[in-house]
Amino acid sequence: MKQVVARVVAKGKHIRGLYRPHGRSINFSQTIMLNCPEIAREAKPGQFVMINCGEGTVLPRPFSIHQVNDKGDISLYFAVLEDGKGTIWLSQRQVGDLVVMPIPRPMGNGFSIVPGSRNLLLVAGGMGIAPLYFLAQEALKKKLSVTLLYGTAVKNWYVQEHLASKIRIISATEDGTFGYHGMISDLIPEYVDWADQVFACGPLPMYRHIDEGFPQLKNKPVQVSLEVVMGCGRGICYGCTVKTKDGLKMVCEDGPVFDLADIIWDELL
Ligand SMILES: Cc1cc2nc3c(=O)[nH]c(=O)nc-3n(C[C@H](O)[C@H](O)[C@H](O)COP(=O)(O)OP(=O)(O)OC[C@H]3O[C@@H](n4cnc5c(N)ncnc54)[C@H](O)[C@@H]3O)c2cc1C
Ligand code: FES
Repeated sequence: MKQVVARVVAKGKHIRGLYRPHGRSINFSQTIMLNCPEIAREAKPGQFVMINCGEGTVLPRPFSIHQVNDKGDISLYFAVLEDGKGTIWLSQRQVGDLVVMPIPRPMGNGFSIVPGSRNLLLVAGGMGIAPLYFLAQEALKKKLSVTLLYGTAVKNWYVQEHLASKIRIISATEDGTFGYHGMISDLIPEYVDWADQVFACGPLPMYRHIDEGFPQLKNKPVQVSLEVVMGCGRGICYGCTVKTKDGLKMVCEDGPVFDLADIIWDELL
């Protein structure tokens, strides 16, 4: 299978110490823009790419497609983990450097907007904003209404600066420095009646809270993007298997987007 070699065309560094996914410390978050027309033209919100992250790593790392432009670029928005070999390596790439994607296509199923949906409620926890940002932009192109519930550990201006003029953003911070003081999922009940569909991306405990905490969501289509540890990223190792009501599924091939109601959380958390 032919790989894609993409050139870094831009990078940006964001806020330090922002998130704590899975309890791991984070140095900072970063965007990186890669020129890869063959992936950009096919990409759908919720899909991801696998990136080879240098000689010190064996397996490629999965990253959601965060934005796409008409010059054939995709951007990624990722947390640089304090002890993460791959994310540190990627953060050190400079404009002009080359990055290899061993699988030459956007991966996974992506989110799907049901025909007739007008009002989309997006729920992002921390780096979960990465694929939802792309979804918000696609929804705006289709002239749909978007409300984003965006929860972070501390105040983060990145998304507010880029999207606030176009969609309604409701923020929550765990330390109370900006917006609602607490977990973003606490705010879901206020918007459930308005929403035709709900899309969420964030840590697994957030999904479980959404699934068990809000019976009013039971009659709404809720799609979640699962972030589990991946190995091969191409359906060979079974390392990303999750249990669903429809049997075992591989997050890399069958996901990463699943209906919330289909996941058997006891097996995952
Ligand atoms: C579908 C999908 C999309 C993702 N999108 C993003 C994104 O847009 N932004 C972002 O910041 N992070 C994203 N992640 C998480 C990201 O892949 C991990 O943070 C990254 O692989 C860690 O690599 P590392 O070498 O720095 O860490 P290490 O701990 O050194 O990695 C060791 C191994 O574990 C795997 N691994 C470790 N943590 C994770 C994890 N949380 N998820 C999957 N594999 C992991 C690595 O791929 C590698 O094989 C996504 C994960 C998945 C499954
Ligand atoms: S990561 Fe290997 S099968 Fe999904």
